[in-house]
Order: sequence, then structure tokens, then C-alpha cells
Amino acid sequence: MPLPFGRNYPWLAPLAGYSDLPFRILCRELGATAACTEMVSARGLICGLKRRSDKGRWSGLELLRTHPADDPLVVQLFGAEPEYVAAAARELAERGYRYFDLNMGCPAPKVTKSGAGAALLRDPERAALVARALFRAVGEGRAGCKLRLGADAASPVYLELGQRLADEGAAWLTLHPRHGKQGFAGTADIKAVELLAGRVNIPVLASGDIFRAEDAARYLDLGATGVMFGRGALADPFIFRKFLALSASGSEKAGPDGALSAQAAPSATGSMGVPDAMGAPGALGTMGAPGATGAPGAKGAMGAPGAPDTMGAPSAKGAMGAKAVAYDEGAEQWLGVQSAPRESDAMGASCGEGAEQALGALLRHAHLARTLLPAPVEGRIPPALLRMRSIAPRYLRNAQGIKRLRMELIRCRTWEEFYAALRGFFPACPWENAGEAGPLRKFASANGTMPRQFGGEGELCG
Ligand SMILES: Cc1cc2nc3c(=O)[nH]c(=O)nc-3n(C[C@H](O)[C@H](O)[C@H](O)COP(=O)(O)O)c2cc1C
Repeated sequence: MPLPFGRNYPWLAPLAGYSDLPFRILCRELGATAACTEMVSARGLICGLKRRSDKGRWSGLELLRTHPADDPLVVQLFGAEPEYVAAAARELAERGYRYFDLNMGCPAPKVTKSGAGAALLRDPERAALVARALFRAVGEGRAGCKLRLGADAASPVYLELGQRLADEGAAWLTLHPRHGKQGFAGTADIKAVELLAGRVNIPVLASGDIFRAEDAARYLDLGATGVMFGRGALADPFIFRKFLALSASGSEKAGPDGALSAQAAPSATGSMGVPDAMGAPGALGTMGAPGATGAPGAKGAMGAPGAPDTMGAPSAKGAMGAKAVAYDEGAEQWLGVQSAPRESDAMGASCGEGAEQALGALLRHAHLARTLLPAPVEGRIPPALLRMRSIAPRYLRNAQGIKRLRMELIRCRTWEEFYAALRGFFPACPWENAGEAGPLRKFASANGTMPRQFGGEGELCG
């Protein structure tokens, strides 16, 4: 499937340690239309493959584990040596990977010390050489670059470098509008995205401080072609649905006091293949992938930020958050669950809409991890469980007593213990006896049926 660009095609950003196959699939089910792997070292990949012996696969390829439903997928590479980046991309292209991104923004010393990541912004000439090697290796329309403003505040290079990269053949650019030294401090300079989008004639994706649907809309209104959700998706994977609901409604606009008020819906949104707002059964039967047709919608004002949502709790604003959603494994679809928000429902022992939704996402994530990550080895803790033990508390971080739950989860050695810990923590949730309407019933089964798309081991390309 071609890479989708446009305001109704939200991407999942590359997130080292997080944007693995199960999380990418979860986000796709919730409306992400493209996703990136975490950054992978080009040199590490080539050297690792060379060293690979009869002992088996190079474990670094695990980072690139994928599945036919994980499409379209962008593999992000980092490196400062054109020959390694080109060789890695060619190697992966031969294994079936189609789209690539060059990391020009990571400020972590382990990356910059080799001249890669944000260090490339100090040396735009080299950055252009590395990018050119990548573009030539994979062919037209297959690769983009993700950059920051510059290595530090004193030397913004993104406009000149962005132009140069476009001239060299970048198919798209992503801008995280902070400089490298900043890390994640301060705020993203969203105006920089407007400047870059005005400068180059290729798609420009925005990535930075998008924690709510409305944050994404602001970038789009400034001229970004599309948006990538990063930490916002980690905090609440339902953010894709919320964003698409906002986009589809086209009816949110900031009033003078910042409150959102109804406006006429732009006509383009109906034909965009956008997943139905909030939980219409069947809307995500095709993994949240958009219809192939449809030009990006006309730019409509989508509203100013309001109060942040917490933990998938319903927004007080507009069309979003009126329903909780959860995945029904028997029916193989996400269900809309009508329930009025109850303010008295704190997360924890009770199971209000926010908790139910967060728990639904967590259980679905766990199921995907169990299905798609490597099979357990006899006598060892399953790799998927190791992963979910640390990820689970992230979903439940607003819950009362989360520290105790975290301690319990980290001690779990089996899935039975994992689910028992969750059940013990949320006794009021409709775990088993909620009848057909109970979205958690199927999740609660440690041996629940697998959705058809994932009936087997995840495939490792190549
Ligand atoms: C945990 C974490 C890991 C990240 N890993 C990568 C990465 O591998 N490659 C990359 O280009 N950016 C990476 N980023 C940056 C994000 O892709 C994104 O550009 C950044 O977080 C800004 O967007 P946000 O404020 O909406 O999260 C990472 C960010 C976080 C928080």
C-alpha cells in the first residue's frame, strides 16, 4: 500500500523501545494509517548480518519484526556513513521492506557520537550525502528524513537542509521543531513547520508536542501535510481515533474563549475512508487502513486546545470521547460501548469509562504481544510478558495504587499471574460475567481466540 499523506492520515512516530510490532498494530487498529519502526543502526544491521552464523538470526532484526497487517511500514535507519546506510536499505528492500526514513534528529549520545542522528545537523553536507545514498539505494518515492531544527539554538539548518534534501530526492520530510541540544525541553516551535512546509514542495509531517487531537489540528492548519503521534500515542493510543473523529466531524472550531463550537463539516471528509468516529463496528475491520482514494481534505480549522484528556477518559469537548471503545476478540472488531461518563469513577478499584478503555487497550496490547512476539522458550518468562510487565503500568498510570500494581506485575512469571494481578486490581470491571455487552470478557481469557489476521507467528520479513 502506498504511503498515505494528508490531514486524515495520522502516522505513528518512531519511538525507540516502544514502536514495536504489537504497538504498531494496536495503533493501526485505532486509526494510525502508517507507522515507523524505531531507529535501527545501519552499520549495526550490516555488521550484524555479516556476523550472523549458523547460530541463527542476528537479533537486531527483531527490531524490524513485521507482519502483513503492519502496512505501510517505514523503517527508520540511523547512520553517518553513506555506504552503510545505502547497504542496509538495499538489504532490507530485498527482504521486502518498502519505505525508509533517515534519522537526523536523535540527540542521544550513543547515536550522535558516531556523527549520526542530530549530529548530522552540524554537518549538512554529510547529511545530504547520507540521504542521497539512501534515496538512490531504494529508489524514488521510498524514503524521507526526520529532522530537528538544528543541532543547537544557534544554528538552525532545517530550512536550507530541508530544501537540499528535497532536491536530493526525499519523498517527504518530518520535522520535530526543537533543536538537538534541547532534547524534549521547552516547547515545539510549531511555526517552524509552517516555514518548512512553505519552503519545500514535498509532504511535510509534523512531530512535536502532539498530545491531543487539537494539537495535531494546529499543525495542519499551519500547513503541515500530516502529523505523527509520538508520546501522545504512548500515553493514549486512542488519540488516533480522537483525532480522526475530530477531523471527520470537521465541526470543531475555537470560539473566542477557546471553547469549541460547531461549524459546518467540510465536504471532503466523508469520502476519505477515515475510520468511523469512535467505535462503529466494522469500521476497523481492515486494520484501520484508509481507503486508497481521496485527496487530503481541505484545510479546515479544527480547534484550539482545551483541557488535556487523561488516560483515554472522555473529553468534555465536541464529538469525541462520547463512547468508550474496546476490542471484542470473538467478533474481531472494536466495539463502541455506550456509557455516560461517571465523574465519581476514579481508576483503580472501580471501573469507569476511562479505566475500562485503558484496560481494554492494555489487554488488546497484551494479546497482540503474545501473538506477534517470539514464542516462549520452555522454562523462561515469555518475551511478550517481559515486555507487557513494564508497559502495563503506563496504561494505568492514573490509577490509584498503581505503585502496588507495578510491583505485582513485575513479579509475574506467567500470563495467568499477569491477568490475575489485573483482575485483583480492577475487581469491579466486567471481567467474566458481563454478558455480550461486556467488552472485557474476552480479553480476560488467558487463552482467548486470536483475531483472524494474527492467526500465527508474526512474520519477520526475510
Ligand atoms: C521514547 C521515545 C523514543 C523515540 N525514538 C525515536 C526514534 O527512534 N527515532 C526518531 O526519529 N524519533 C524518536 N523519538 C522522537 C519522536 O518520534 C517524536 O519526534 C518526538 O517525541 C516529538 O513528538 P511528541 O512530542 O509528539 O512525542 C522518540 C521519542 C520518544 C519519547
